[in-house]
Amino acid sequence: MQTFADVVSLRDQLKSARRDGRRIAFVPTMGNLHEGHLTLVRKAREQADLVVVSIFVNPMQFEREDDLNNYPRTLEDDLSKLNSESVDFVFTPTPEIMYPEGLDKHTFIEVPSLSHMLEGASRPGHFRGVSTIVTKLFNIVQPDVACFGEKDFQQLAVIKKMVTDLALDINVIGVPTVRELDNLAMSSRNSRLTLSERQRAPVLARTMRWISSQMRGGRNDYPSLIEDATDQLRAADLEPDEIFIRDANTLQLLNENSTQAVVLMSAYLGQVRLIDNTIVELSNINSLDGEEE
Ligand code: PAF
Repeated sequence: MQTFADVVSLRDQLKSARRDGRRIAFVPTMGNLHEGHLTLVRKAREQADLVVVSIFVNPMQFEREDDLNNYPRTLEDDLSKLNSESVDFVFTPTPEIMYPEGLDKHTFIEVPSLSHMLEGASRPGHFRGVSTIVTKLFNIVQPDVACFGEKDFQQLAVIKKMVTDLALDINVIGVPTVRELDNLAMSSRNSRLTLSERQRAPVLARTMRWISSQMRGGRNDYPSLIEDATDQLRAADLEPDEIFIRDANTLQLLNENSTQAVVLMSAYLGQVRLIDNTIVELSNINSLDGEEE
């Protein structure tokens, strides 16, 4: 495994791999790697001859300085995990390399139709930061395939739309969420939970599954379903942030043409914001009652 901190030497190596006809798969990360990331790496390995992983805590996608500063950084441990997965190249740039003139003067990419809704409404600038860094990393690595976790459902939708709109020749693959034994979705943020918060955290996935089973059972009074779920989170001492029930393909409100819904959940445990989502097939639901907002 080779590690690169600068763009030029990574590009040189990738150019020669491409000349040799090797297919390149890419997994962008912010480090603090867990089984979820390693699943992306294994998926990437199935798709190509050469796997590139980036580790970069991207300041442009954080709206709060303390969140950026507290983001767990575990480079040594991450590199050893990637080495065990036989990753070929790891790119570990600094903010100075990626944003030499600072964030404000940097060109940005934005997917306007998907970036300001849902999570984007409460995190202004977040998806612009994600689209910008992912585009820049795509331009540096020029992969054939890139793998992203489905846990960040809206992020995946934004990236897929960006790739389509900009005609990037990259196959974006969504990889299902990896869960702990108690169903908590794996996340780098889980390591910041206290013991007691960690014990309560699975309530998020449990409540999400309850919503989905209610919907599968035909319940479609979404505003009160969301209210009931919010109460369940509060009763377990979680601070509900947002719950949305949307069309999984468009992220718009459900309508009579919707075939799949996505339940998007977020809640705070102390300072830590956890997210999760699940898909619900809508074939047995034929009428809609209002919406969640
Ligand atoms: O999902 C993440 O870890 C980040 O948002 C990403 C895609 C690596 C961009 O910084």
